[in-house]
Amino acid sequence: MISLGTQAGTVESPFTPEQQQRFDAGLDRAIARYPSERRKAALLAALHLAQDELGWLSEPAMAYVAFRLDVPPVRVREVATFYTMYRLRPVGRHHIGVCNSISCWAMGAEDVLRQCSEILGIRPGETSGDGHFSLEEVACLAACGGAPAVLVNNYAFFENVTADSLKALIRDLREQPGKAMAKGPLPRLPDPHARIESQSAPQATGTLGQPAVTTRAEAGSAEPKR
Ligand code: FES
Repeated sequence: MISLGTQAGTVESPFTPEQQQRFDAGLDRAIARYPSERRKAALLAALHLAQDELGWLSEPAMAYVAFRLDVPPVRVREVATFYTMYRLRPVGRHHIGVCNSISCWAMGAEDVLRQCSEILGIRPGETSGDGHFSLEEVACLAACGGAPAVLVNNYAFFENVTADSLKALIRDLREQPGKAMAKGPLPRLPDPHARIESQSAPQATGTLGQPAVTTRAEAGSAEPKR
């Protein structure tokens, strides 16, 4: 972690040096889109950048974004807790989002979600016991022409998903993490230091009204299939 001094104290970066480089480059690009006195307008982009690197938005990550944009931390928290695209709990190394909006629903998204859930042994909103997979229902991915669509780690789109292609995708992700992923941050390793209990309860997502992400253990369920 990199510490940065402020008048109010020290703000620690939650990133590794490599992550920091990517975050800084992305933040510079986002800030450059706005007049210099409006750098705060890059807040949504900055939160996405942090989430891309860490998989979720921890309290230190939100505090760091607040520091970098000179925004009150409470304002960052307000934004992060308002939009369901921001995750306030750790997710699996591969976070699988199954679109449940109209086109995908009409083309069998419910079957895709059920199959995904059966293969992984987790329900939407849960993370597998080994930390490698989490599952979530998401709203339209703007890939309606290729419905049903699935998004992995916010970067890799899979369209016209069938039972066979879904099985193959999960097998590939299991055997070779990162395989078939679009350009973007590499899949993260599970964070052993994540303190789930320190995060506030996330907003519900998906039609089942599950919390954004819970671990299988949190849900009080039996050990998942592997
Ligand atoms: S409805 Fe699924 S991508 Fe648009």
